Amino acid sequence: MKADHALLPQGLQVRSWHFRNRVVMPPMVTLRDPVSADGIAWYRRHAEGGPAMVIIEATGVPRFERDLTAAALQPLVAAIHGAGALAGIQLFPVDFGTDRDVGVLTRGEIAGIVAQFAVAARICREAGMDAVEPHGAHGYLLNRFFSPADNPRRDGYGRSLADRMRFGLEVVRAIREAVGEDLMLFYRHTPVKDGSYGLDESLPFARELVAAGVDVLDISPSSFEAPGDRAAPFRELGVPVVAVGNLDLPGRAEEALSEGRADLVAVGRGQIADPDWAAKAIRDDWSAITACTKCNRLCFGNLRRRVPIACSVWPGASAEA
Ligand SMILES: Cc1cc2nc3c(=O)[nH]c(=O)nc-3n(C[C@H](O)[C@H](O)[C@H](O)COP(=O)(O)O)c2cc1C
Repeated sequence: MKADHALLPQGLQVRSWHFRNRVVMPPMVTLRDPVSADGIAWYRRHAEGGPAMVIIEATGVPRFERDLTAAALQPLVAAIHGAGALAGIQLFPVDFGTDRDVGVLTRGEIAGIVAQFAVAARICREAGMDAVEPHGAHGYLLNRFFSPADNPRRDGYGRSLADRMRFGLEVVRAIREAVGEDLMLFYRHTPVKDGSYGLDESLPFARELVAAGVDVLDISPSSFEAPGDRAAPFRELGVPVVAVGNLDLPGRAEEALSEGRADLVAVGRGQIADPDWAAKAIRDDWSAITACTKCNRLCFGNLRRRVPIACSVWPGASAEA
C-alpha cells in the first residue's frame, strides 16, 4: 500500500521536463556498447522498471566525433522514451578506460576537450536526449582538476579555487552555448575529498555551476562504500539535487526526500539487482524487491575484469551480455 504522504511517487518539474517520480537510474558503465542491440535491451529493461530518468553510462566525448551520431543514438533514446522515462547521458572527457595527466595537458588540449563536450551535447540534443551530465566526480579528470591534491598546475587551471573550477565551468558554459535551453544540464560532483577539499570549496563551485547553466546537481560521494547521500548542503542553491549511494535499502530513499536531503534519488546497484526496483518502491512494496546484496562481484568486479557487467541476483543481467 502506498502511504498518502509518500514522496517517491510524486512528480517533479524541471523547466519543461516532467519527472514521473523521484527515482533516477544513475550512470553505470556496462561494458556493453549502449547503442548496440545488447546495450539498448539493457537500457530499455531498466527504463521499463519505472524510474523517472535513466542516465546512460559515462561516454567519452571523442566518440561523438567518430561513430556516435544522432542517428546511432536515436534507437537508444527511443527505447528509454518508449518506456516512459527521460533519457540522459553522462559525458566523459576522454574515451572511457583511458586517462590524461592533469599536469601535462596543454591549454590547447583543454580547449579541445571543452569543444568536444559542446559537439557531443549538440548531437545528444539532435538525438532527442533530455539531459547531458559532465562527469565531474569520483577522481576522474574534471574532478582531479578541481582537487588541489591532484592538480599541480600553475597556469590558470590550478592553485586557487577560481582556477581549479575553470575546466568544469568552461565545459558547462560550452554545452549551454551549444544547445541553448534545449537540454537539461546535470553535473556530477563529489562533495568532499579527504585530504584535498571539502564543502567550503564544493559549495562555491556548485553555485558557479548553477550560475553557468546547470539545472540539476548530482552529488555523488567518491566511494561506493561511502555512507549514502551527501547532497543535503547543496539544496540551498536553488536547483534540484540528486542524492546517491546505498539508497536502495527500504526507507532510505523516501527518508532522503522526506528529510529534505534531496529532490531526486539515484539508485544504482539496487536497480541492477531488481530492474523493477522503482515501480516496487513507488508502490511501497518492499517485500517484492530482490535486494542488492552489495557483493560487488559482477558489477564492479566485472568492470575491473573488463567484461560486461552482470549481477549475482538478477540473472537477466548476464542473459544480455
Ligand atoms: C558497475 C558500475 C558502473 C558505474 N559506472 C559509473 C559511471 O559510468 N559514472 C558514474 O558517475 N558513476 C558510475 N558508477 C557509480 C554509480 O553511478 C553510483 O553512484 C554508485 O553505484 C552508488 O550508488 P548505489 O549505492 O545505488 O549503487 C558505477 C557503479 C557501478 C556499480
